[in-house]
Amino acid sequence: MSRQKFIAANWKLNIKQSEAKDFLLRFSPISQASPEIVLCPSFTSLATVASQIQDTEIQLGAQDMSQYSSGAYTGEISAEMLLEIGVQHIIIGHSERRMIFKEDDSIVNAKMNAALNAGLRPILCCGESEQQREQGQTDIWVSGQIAAALENLDLDKLGTNFVVAYEPIWAIGTGKVCDSSEANRVISVIRAKLKEILGDQKSSQIRILYGGSVKSSNVSELMSQSDIDGALVGGASLDPIEFAKIINNANSAIIS
Ligand code: PGA
Repeated sequence: MSRQKFIAANWKLNIKQSEAKDFLLRFSPISQASPEIVLCPSFTSLATVASQIQDTEIQLGAQDMSQYSSGAYTGEISAEMLLEIGVQHIIIGHSERRMIFKEDDSIVNAKMNAALNAGLRPILCCGESEQQREQGQTDIWVSGQIAAALENLDLDKLGTNFVVAYEPIWAIGTGKVCDSSEANRVISVIRAKLKEILGDQKSSQIRILYGGSVKSSNVSELMSQSDIDGALVGGASLDPIEFAKIINNANSAIIS
């Protein structure tokens, strides 16, 4: 089954609004790039990026949202607010939110539900720690994260309108990229879990990305694996030239 590749930039707590404008002036991936390209800036840069990418194929994502749709939740931003300014995708369950901001599986599940109800497309993250890997728990851990995130969701509504990102925690921001065949293996475990929950047909259509120290120098190798359908890129997406190179190299790997 051929699935369109998907490459997303997660800028995290970087790139101010004024810098986002400069990024977009310098960011020019080859025009016939076949992957879907998504930029996920910080909240304050979303509107600027939305207006700058208006006439392009580039899509917009946010890095987080509230599980609540309105009310007395100081500091929160709802899915509807994001949709109103042109956001299409939402990162949910990133390991930094799980670890630093103590978001557990039930919050991840509630955010999946809120995104689904509003019509935002989730980029659902999962991944094991170094210790879990050493103890041989990787497969059971990531499968459990996926099952918990999708629990009690309206699966008809969910359809195939989300992507999963497998991001081993020990590979994020460390320069220690996961071996591509091992990333491919874990991703096939995730797909098997999706098959159990969603059935054969839907699970074979869902894109599963790899994330963790992706760069222009390792993306081709990752993209040439059978089950890796794209990348979620942190550090290397902050440089517009490097991020364009990642897309171009991924594109060549798909064509060849
Ligand atoms: P990294 O981050 O590319 O800097 O490792 C990836 C991520 O956290 O999504």
